[in-house]
Amino acid sequence: MPALVLLGAQWGDEGKGKATDLLGGSVDYVVRYQGGNNAGHTVVVGDQKYALHLLPSGILSPGCIPVIGNGVVIDPSVLLSELSGLNERGVDTSKLLISGNAHIITPYNVTLDKVTERFLGKRKIGTTGRGIGPTYADKINRVGIRVQDLYDESILTQKVEAALDVKNQILTKLYNRRAIAVNQVVEELLGYAEQIKPYVADTVLILNQALDEDKVVLFEGGQGTLLDIDHGTYPFVTSSNPTAGGACTGTGVGPTRISRVIGILKAYTTRVGAGPFPTELFDEDGEALRRIGGERGVTTGRDRRCGWFDAVIARYATRVNGLTDFFLTKLDVLSGWERIPVCVAYEIDGWRVEELPYSQSDFHHAKPVYEYLPGWQEDITKAKTFSDLPKNAQNYVKALEEMSGAPISAIGVGPGRDETIQINPFL
Ligand code: IMP
Repeated sequence: MPALVLLGAQWGDEGKGKATDLLGGSVDYVVRYQGGNNAGHTVVVGDQKYALHLLPSGILSPGCIPVIGNGVVIDPSVLLSELSGLNERGVDTSKLLISGNAHIITPYNVTLDKVTERFLGKRKIGTTGRGIGPTYADKINRVGIRVQDLYDESILTQKVEAALDVKNQILTKLYNRRAIAVNQVVEELLGYAEQIKPYVADTVLILNQALDEDKVVLFEGGQGTLLDIDHGTYPFVTSSNPTAGGACTGTGVGPTRISRVIGILKAYTTRVGAGPFPTELFDEDGEALRRIGGERGVTTGRDRRCGWFDAVIARYATRVNGLTDFFLTKLDVLSGWERIPVCVAYEIDGWRVEELPYSQSDFHHAKPVYEYLPGWQEDITKAKTFSDLPKNAQNYVKALEEMSGAPISAIGVGPGRDETIQINPFL
């Protein structure tokens, strides 16, 4: 069973870095398939903490080949600084492979992301400001710049010209900004070309051949299910497909080759940026979750909005991703509560609703219906097996499993690499 997908089952920041890294040792390829440096993975290896934004977390596992698939958008300056940061700390990054079809986040896309958000005012999405949306918009509009374009100056110039023709009108006439010069952008991009070249490869062919040879390939999702452009809380979403289907389009590996889809599920809920969030807390419990859970964005440094576990969302994630199982993270953060509320359904305009409503307006009106589970006071960070957990923690996990519609195969009980209880092996 060589191809697995690991993805966020909520609004991102579920602790995917740890899960991917846990598998890294037994995986031959770790592949990112969407998003860009809007993602933020924190991986703790021994006493070292790594914050990765763009690079696949498999880059920290010797013997594993990290791959950036065609569905990813790449800011070349971030790519190179992340690589050199790791090199300085002694991490070998030479095995990295980058798809020539991946799109480039250009400087004008970063500018447009920021000015658009400012222009939207209180209607803003709360993006990470990294140029993600404008770059995917260019891709769909067929005016994007791809990695392979860096190696043909004439094509690159034509493409930047075509893109800036329209964008400069928007920048100068709508946003009252200075126009961006074509040659300046081309020069900057060409400046990155040679440094990136050794990594550029036909990743579609390489990954499919690896699967033919029974190698283990792990697809690593950025963001999360509810931030998916198609299946998330649109328009408060990112501009790509973190859901399982994105692993196919974003890498060129067909769905029949994927045998396992693991959803990373935090034992409570967080989100950054704007948009509906039924179980959000505005009291001291929310503050406590943020403080104990260290809920601050790895990429943006913004405080995350915090709330109780939402089983409606977990069930939805099981459905739209075809999840085979869950990795439940950060259970230790919940130690110390007398009782823990879990959202089992919503009340919308006086009606009890068991499943995520497809209508945006209904979801905005959804109020959580809670069940209260008994908490536990013990420190659980040293637990190695399920039976090491206090009875109430075991029951909390079992209840979540039942409500979410897929088995929980692993439980995170602390930030360290070894602070994980594995119930069913992933491989
Ligand atoms: P963008 O991806 O920068 O366009 O931002 C769109 C929305 O997705 C905003 O609400 C962001 O806060 C959110 N977002 C993007 N990346 C992440 C992530 O890795 N974790 C959590 N939220 C994210």
